[in-house]
Amino acid sequence: MAKMTVKDIDIKGKKVLIRVDFNVPMKNGEITDENRIVEALPTIKYVIEQGGRAVVFSHLGRVKEEADKAKNSLAPVAKRLSEHLGQTVKFVPVTRGVELEVAVAGLKNGEVLMFENTRFEDIDGNKESKNNAELGKYWASLGDVFVNDAFGTAHRAAASNVGIASNVKTTVAGFLLEKEINFIGGTLENPERPFVAILGGAKVSDKIEVIQNLLKIADKVIIGGGMAFTFFKAMGYEVGKSLLEQDKVELAKELLTIANGKIELGDDVYTGKAFDAETERNIRKIDQIPADEMGLDVGPNTIEIFKSYIKNAKTVVWNGPLGVFEFPKFAEGTKSVAKTIASIKDQATTIIGGGDSAAAVIQFGLQDGFTHISTGGGASLEYLEGKVLPGIACVNDK
Ligand code: 3PG
Repeated sequence: MAKMTVKDIDIKGKKVLIRVDFNVPMKNGEITDENRIVEALPTIKYVIEQGGRAVVFSHLGRVKEEADKAKNSLAPVAKRLSEHLGQTVKFVPVTRGVELEVAVAGLKNGEVLMFENTRFEDIDGNKESKNNAELGKYWASLGDVFVNDAFGTAHRAAASNVGIASNVKTTVAGFLLEKEINFIGGTLENPERPFVAILGGAKVSDKIEVIQNLLKIADKVIIGGGMAFTFFKAMGYEVGKSLLEQDKVELAKELLTIANGKIELGDDVYTGKAFDAETERNIRKIDQIPADEMGLDVGPNTIEIFKSYIKNAKTVVWNGPLGVFEFPKFAEGTKSVAKTIASIKDQATTIIGGGDSAAAVIQFGLQDGFTHISTGGGASLEYLEGKVLPGIACVNDK
């Protein structure tokens, strides 16, 4: 069912609460990846243009004690937001109280305010993260309407999303949340076929439910990365020093049986003797991995096999790198797959769900080659698992 969006409500002169996910990586107070800020701009700009009074807020990092506050202040993010918007964003360094209430009351049409990290409320009994009823009610009382645009947080039921939603008549989605729902949710509901899912990353245990869900929906499930070795082991191969989850080998066997040929793992790997960027690179067929070597990337023939499926796809969903792409010698699998997906952009819907594969694509400068790069990490994963996300469920249906 389609969700109400910010376009479905009257905004002029209203105090508009906008929950965004500005949980951006920071180093020494500097933002190192501002994609989540950029992706939230359309909603904030729309509210400004419509004459709304924007009250923007987010969590950042984990805040468990006073000492965590300084490094998790949203002040640098408010500054960056202000630069992007080309107008002042008044930063209020608290999460509740008179200072915040006066600032909100003083907002004029088209002005923007941002208040401090919602997780500062976690110091006193995890109020934000545990969706404390009084806190959600308080934040709801600050505004006239509530726009949830925080897809990255949609898998968490917090006071600042679900809590506020349960205290207002109408909760609508912002444009980013709408986009994520349309691309990820829409694809899972009704994919154009052939639908190829590509799953990578270190551990099978992180991806079990995604594999199970995508096996039901996709036409082909390509598996690479560290987790492939648990599957190779399940197929009876020796994997040397490669990543292996021994306790998931039986599960991998079951998944291979259920898949009935739908899972594609390829037939060779690039190996090295050490987990080291400079280790010598070898090509090994999967039945010939020496005991003292570890697989660090999918092999050249495997890359060709994967490409042959991707080239004919009408929908591709990718989550997780296929090798240790941070080491240039072992980035070939992840890079070739990224390039192949980018090459079919005009014929297919191509979606990257998840932090590491998005980081890889950005590292390769290929981000424009995809239909959609999700801003969610855990949220995209749970969405791909087929779960109902509380941050989406709390938005009103049209
Ligand atoms: C994320 O970055 O995945 C979200 O912002 C959620 O953050 P969290 O894992 O700290 O809840």
